[in-house]
Amino acid sequence: VLTSDLGGGKTTFVKGLAKGLGSLDIATSPTFTINRTYACRDNLVLEHFDFYRLNDPGIVAHELSEVIDQKDTIIAIEWGDIVGDVLPTQRIEIAINRRKDDENKRELIATYPAEYGYVFEESK
Ligand SMILES: Nc1ncnc2c1ncn2[C@@H]1O[C@H](COP(=O)(O)OP(=O)(O)O)[C@@H](O)[C@H]1O
Ligand SMILES: [Mg+2]
Repeated sequence: VLTSDLGGGKTTFVKGLAKGLGSLDIATSPTFTINRTYACRDNLVLEHFDFYRLNDPGIVAHELSEVIDQKDTIIAIEWGDIVGDVLPTQRIEIAINRRKDDENKRELIATYPAEYGYVFEESK
């Protein structure tokens, strides 16, 4: 779950994630299509949701429920606050903050349960 202000860098982060996972698909902002699916390496799938302007939690919950328990699927969500209670309690939250000293830099703060620590090990 990615949080930042508008233009903070959530979609940009997901583009990097897709690239890092070996996807050859071009990641565009899915704002008006709710979600996009990226085929990645090792049969991994990246599902990118953007719930901006979507104010019907029922639709959102339905879309998410279709993929949330799928094997080998990574789900990246922008504007996930609308679905608060549908998201698993065990999840990674990444807050993206602008830096005052450089408009092209961001500070990321990740919050995650211990079992997901391995995801961050290489970047330590
Ligand atoms: N270090 C950075 N990380 C992410 N985005 C950056 C960075 N530096 C500049 N940007 C720019 O900030 C904008 C972020 O937009 P976007 O990723 O669509 O934000 P959001 O999805 O949060 O609304 C893009 O124009 C991107 O090029
Ligand atoms: Mg976005």
